Amino acid sequence: MKIAIVVDKTLDKHKKKMLKAIQESLDGIHEHKVIPFDENFMKEIRKFDLAFNVATGGGKEARQLHVASVLDLIGIPYTGSPPITHALCIDKSVTKAIVKQEGLDTPNYFVVKPGEGVPREHGLKYPLIVKLSRQGSSRGLRKESIAHDYYELVRNVEWAFENYKEPVLVEEYIDGMELTIAFLEDENGTNVLPPMEIDFSRLPERIEKFFSDRVKNSGEYDQYIDYYVPARLEKAFLKGVEETSRKAFKVLELRGYGRIDMRIKNGRYYILEVNSLPMLVPDYSNIPMIVEKTGGTYKGMILTIVNAARRRFDL
Ligand SMILES: Nc1ncnc2c1ncn2[C@@H]1O[C@H](COP(=O)(O)OP(=O)(O)OP(=O)(O)O)[C@@H](O)[C@H]1O
Ligand SMILES: [Mg+2]
Repeated sequence: MKIAIVVDKTLDKHKKKMLKAIQESLDGIHEHKVIPFDENFMKEIRKFDLAFNVATGGGKEARQLHVASVLDLIGIPYTGSPPITHALCIDKSVTKAIVKQEGLDTPNYFVVKPGEGVPREHGLKYPLIVKLSRQGSSRGLRKESIAHDYYELVRNVEWAFENYKEPVLVEEYIDGMELTIAFLEDENGTNVLPPMEIDFSRLPERIEKFFSDRVKNSGEYDQYIDYYVPARLEKAFLKGVEETSRKAFKVLELRGYGRIDMRIKNGRYYILEVNSLPMLVPDYSNIPMIVEKTGGTYKGMILTIVNAARRRFDL
């Protein structure tokens, strides 16, 4: 097949590494070419049988929606989830409403939009975490994002509006084990991989025990974070995590691959968010990490994603 690897117009070092790894995985199996999502995209893409879509940027609001929407419009098959799924997952408050409706647990929450005040009576239990509902990669998350009282909550929401001008999601902070769960679609359907536990307990005492921006992205704290696949949970809980994840993937209609972030407390599985177009950077992104820790290879993962798209589009 002729595969276009669709990428953002500009690539940081992680995205460059991901692109190289995808190219190497397809080498000798499928013809492939890198196609940036730019002004020529509509014309260029028509020369290909399938788009391997890893473009997540561009635009002001819709980010991962763009490429899948354009491909859907012009009828070119593509890897991963359809635009409707990206639309549901790009805003954490929308995702939460849907999984909640399905009977799954997600931390209690409310949303504050720019220009609105923060309700004093909200029925949530402190501590609360203040997040940007439409950001990813821990952007806007600081140690101070945890509010212990109304005063801290208001200060946090104001800080978020000053810096982002986007809806703010306020939710109960779940002080429990953090997990991330990957799925890859194979010929038997949704293959939920064993959950990966992220253990923050070795971080220095003054550092927050969650993926704030600095903990996740500065590189300074990587040495203190431990990853376990499968998570150190009893069998019954592993099963519970898998079933919860499977239901969430299904109700959001994720395709090909995806990832859920979750925290567990008192035997309940709290869905934090669902990533419909997670990055696939070798040795860095969570899905490739989980694949390799469970005996798979990066190349095998890429071909599985391609094959899922071929089945979906009858190629
Ligand atoms: N309700 C919560 N309780 C405890 N920790 C939380 C909660 N919400 C978020 N966190 C912490 O903040 C991190 C980032 O939050 P979340 O996954 O919702 O946003 P994100 O920035 O979109 O993540 P990603 O980097 O995966 O795109 C989580 O991995 C977790 O460590
Ligand atoms: Mg996350």
